[in-house]
Amino acid sequence: MTPAVTLNSGTTMPLLGFGTWQIRGDKAYQAVLAALEAGYRHIDTATMYGNEAEVGRALRDSGVPRDEVFVTTKLPPERAGKEDATLAASLRALGVDAVDLWLIHWPPRRKSVAVWEKFVAARSDGRARAIGVSNYGLDEIDELSTATGVTPAVNQIRFGPALYDAKLVAGHRERGVVVEGYSPFKTTNLHDPALTRIAEAHGVDPARVVLRWHVQREIVVIPKSARAERIARNFDIDGFSLSDEELAEVDGLAQRL
Ligand SMILES: NC(=O)c1ccc[n+]([C@@H]2O[C@H](COP(=O)([O-])OP(=O)(O)OC[C@H]3O[C@@H](n4cnc5c(N)ncnc54)[C@H](OP(=O)(O)O)[C@@H]3O)[C@@H](O)[C@H]2O)c1
Repeated sequence: MTPAVTLNSGTTMPLLGFGTWQIRGDKAYQAVLAALEAGYRHIDTATMYGNEAEVGRALRDSGVPRDEVFVTTKLPPERAGKEDATLAASLRALGVDAVDLWLIHWPPRRKSVAVWEKFVAARSDGRARAIGVSNYGLDEIDELSTATGVTPAVNQIRFGPALYDAKLVAGHRERGVVVEGYSPFKTTNLHDPALTRIAEAHGVDPARVVLRWHVQREIVVIPKSARAERIARNFDIDGFSLSDEELAEVDGLAQRL
């Protein structure tokens, strides 16, 4: 079973999930079905991705019970002021009564607090089991917490070994905000010699070292692939463990790039 992290809402979120950006239509349906078959129990989508209906159909067709899958979707900032209608459309497309996590996709230019108040209401009445943000700075998170007394459960940000910043991670932890990283492969040189050496030592590929590093650092990671074989391989990270030295070496990839 994938290790999970507990959110400030009290619910749990698997540390390894499946990303669905840039896959639409039947490709999205097939990819999500393959992910659920491979064992993923966490799917990341967004209103902006235009694939919520396919994600929902794959969820239903997979036969995996709804309460075993953690589903995230996101509000585009230009939908500020139309939060309830946007969430209703997401729930309808996904075919679910509630999402496990609803994120503000990017900080809206104005009205961040007003949007957040709508998110708090959605959590209170059960349409979203947890609420959070994406692409926010710590100052922007503090603004929401101070204004409403409710701290985002998650901040989904561009992340990977080359972007590792222990201080930024600590800043989130001090506030009880879980860091969720996106674009783990796009931000990594998968041919980095240190990564290749560590991968060979464990008999895996560099991509899995990157994913394993996130999980051991307790950072949620949501790799995307449209290929069934890679989808399954990316999920297969339970059979090895990185030593403290290896983790530190991967932290240091930022310096080598
Ligand atoms: N909140 C935000 O603003 C935001 C922004 C970006 C992304 N996200 C989320 O984060 C998810 C992941 O990020 P991402 O899609 O940008 O990038 P990613 O997961 O870092 O990389 C995806 C790319 O890596 C390839 N890939 C997959 N597995 C691989 C492997 N084992 N070895 C080598 N290459 C591999 C994929 O190709 P194939 O498909 O051909 O396998 C694809 O080109 C997104 O899907 C989305 O859910 C959120």
